[in-house]
Amino acid sequence: MKVSGKVAMVTGAAQGLGKAFAASLLQNGAKVLFSDVNEEKGQATLKEFEKKYGQDNVAFLRGDVTSQADMEATFRLVREKFGGLDIMCNNAGVGGESCDMWEKTVDINLKGSIRGTTLAMDMMRRDKGGRGGVIVNVASMAGINPNPFGPVYCATKFAIVGFSRSWALNPECVDNGIRINMLCPAFADTALVADIESTAVGSPTAAKEFIDKIGIMTPEYVAEGFLDLVQDETRNGSVLKMAKTFGKVYHEY
Ligand SMILES: NC(=O)c1ccc[n+]([C@@H]2O[C@H](COP(=O)([O-])OP(=O)(O)OC[C@H]3O[C@@H](n4cnc5c(N)ncnc54)[C@H](O)[C@@H]3O)[C@@H](O)[C@H]2O)c1
Repeated sequence: MKVSGKVAMVTGAAQGLGKAFAASLLQNGAKVLFSDVNEEKGQATLKEFEKKYGQDNVAFLRGDVTSQADMEATFRLVREKFGGLDIMCNNAGVGGESCDMWEKTVDINLKGSIRGTTLAMDMMRRDKGGRGGVIVNVASMAGINPNPFGPVYCATKFAIVGFSRSWALNPECVDNGIRINMLCPAFADTALVADIESTAVGSPTAAKEFIDKIGIMTPEYVAEGFLDLVQDETRNGSVLKMAKTFGKVYHEY
């Protein structure tokens, strides 16, 4: 898929991996609407992107992926401003295993990705006037392998992989020109990893040792894998595993 001239949406892109994905799309000539629950960081990133890539090519809307109304507003705006949608990235995600946080982790990571996928498919379907497209759902290496320090996080990411692979095989998706791929990185240098000692289950030192053993990638490197999943039209239902120790590997079932 040629990214230039396409319209993309990325959730949770005020910082971290989502910001790197949005930047890679803008660098390649796409128009990008990004959303995030953090208004302040979102506005700061918008200013940065406008300066680098031009005011007409980027937009930001504060939006919480756990809110159907917020998500619908984001999809309305992408249609009004950029005339449709070709590339969707469900990226917003958090870690949090405690009694008062685990349900939020499920709501944001899993339900947010399901909501974003469903709305994107609706806008992209050729039988509803769309032009097909690609959806990249950001799971994690913890969507394929166990993560001893984040069982709830791991459960949400396994579920995202199962949900996305199932849709990718469904004729409704295939016949409407929609591809769905999954990005499964190990650790990347973002706030999510910096905070892991407070969000992980069990010994913070053990969690830190686990990360150090596996290694930390730059968000820009992970964005290269994201772009592969967008651009390679032979890929549908593909799971891209990425880690500092072994680079990029497609996990085919
Ligand atoms: N960093 C890693 O090592 C790593 C590895 C594998 C997968 N991931 C996944 O990558 C994605 C991005 O994480 P990151 O590492 O960039 O973390 P991050 O904390 O830097 O960024 C997450 C962004 O999501 C936003 N967000 C949180 N809740 C939201 C909500 N309800 N609605 C909208 N936006 C919301 C935050 O404000 C933040 O800007 C997540 O899905 C995460 O699980 C991260």
